[in-house]
Amino acid sequence: MRILTGIQASGKLHIGNYFGAMKPMIELQDSAELFTFIANYHSLTTSKDAELLRKLTFDSAIDYLSLGIDPQKTTFWVQSDVPQVLELYWILSKFTPMGLLERAHSYKDKVAKGITANHALFSYPVLMSADILLLDTQKVPVGKDQIQHVEITRDIAIKFNNEYGDIFTLPEYIVNEDVATIPGIDGQKMSKSYDNAIDIFMETEKKLQKRCNKIISSSTPLGEPLEYEGCNIYNLASLFLDEDRKVELQQRYKSGEEGYGHLKKYLKELIWEEFAEARERREEYINNPDLVKDILSDGAKKVREISDMKMSIIRDAVGIL
Ligand code: ADP
Ligand code: TRP
Repeated sequence: MRILTGIQASGKLHIGNYFGAMKPMIELQDSAELFTFIANYHSLTTSKDAELLRKLTFDSAIDYLSLGIDPQKTTFWVQSDVPQVLELYWILSKFTPMGLLERAHSYKDKVAKGITANHALFSYPVLMSADILLLDTQKVPVGKDQIQHVEITRDIAIKFNNEYGDIFTLPEYIVNEDVATIPGIDGQKMSKSYDNAIDIFMETEKKLQKRCNKIISSSTPLGEPLEYEGCNIYNLASLFLDEDRKVELQQRYKSGEEGYGHLKKYLKELIWEEFAEARERREEYINNPDLVKDILSDGAKKVREISDMKMSIIRDAVGIL
């Protein structure tokens, strides 16, 4: 089973990203052949700052490696190191009806948010199709907002196959339906755009505590039992706990002996502990950027080899000399 997914380099990662997207994706590497890349050509569609894009690309690679992408198991690279994908993007464009792209929600949403429409933004799904089809991908783990892009990929592949024979594997998306929406410190969906996120990599434990202290909780006076249902602190803490420990925490709420301050301290400890190993690995990678470059370059080399073989079949099929 070949699974592929692209990661947008978007800056600081928060706990919502981790439980909603990264953890389930990283866990796949234990049971399947996982291909993961930093989609920097996609990020270019909305980037205005070269230095920032370079930094975000590299930092995202470090973060994903630190959080558990294992280069022994997973092929990991930067999209722009495999230029074959751009050649396929052009060829696929010929099999992409305008209407298919005009119906893309993600494009319409971006334009509605005031991002100026340009051709790259419009044809974004075709590049994503090239990422997927170039490697004969069978499964694509994505967030709900990306499902339509995988459907577009299938439509393009079917159109191509109808004309030139069975060249492309038809991919299917995987969406983790049971992942709940992780709440932010205000109880709304945690998002970097809402200023309510708790970042995975806070610089110090003290800063993390400060952030946890900002979690909105009810104002039950100290000494009275607390309600855990609907409590933002409880909801966040339970992400880190198994069933037995959740029950223990519920008892602490009911006991009437603890206030929200204690519970926020407990949550801080859970978060700090959960990412302890990742923080250590991250330090190592930050201090040894050549190691990261080597991992990415090995990944890209392997993908270029697979891509060359596939491209020669595709070129041959369509009549490019
Ligand atoms: P943000 O809302 O912070 O901009 P992104 O849109 O970049 O986050 O999301 C990246 C991935 O993380 C997506 O797959 C998305 O489903 C997941 N994700 C983001 N926020 C949450 C959340 N609060 N709960 C669950 N998953 C989330
Ligand atoms: N568009 C995806 C996102 O914004 C990133 C991406 C690019 C991708 N190419 C891909 C995801 C190929 C899956 C497969 O999250």
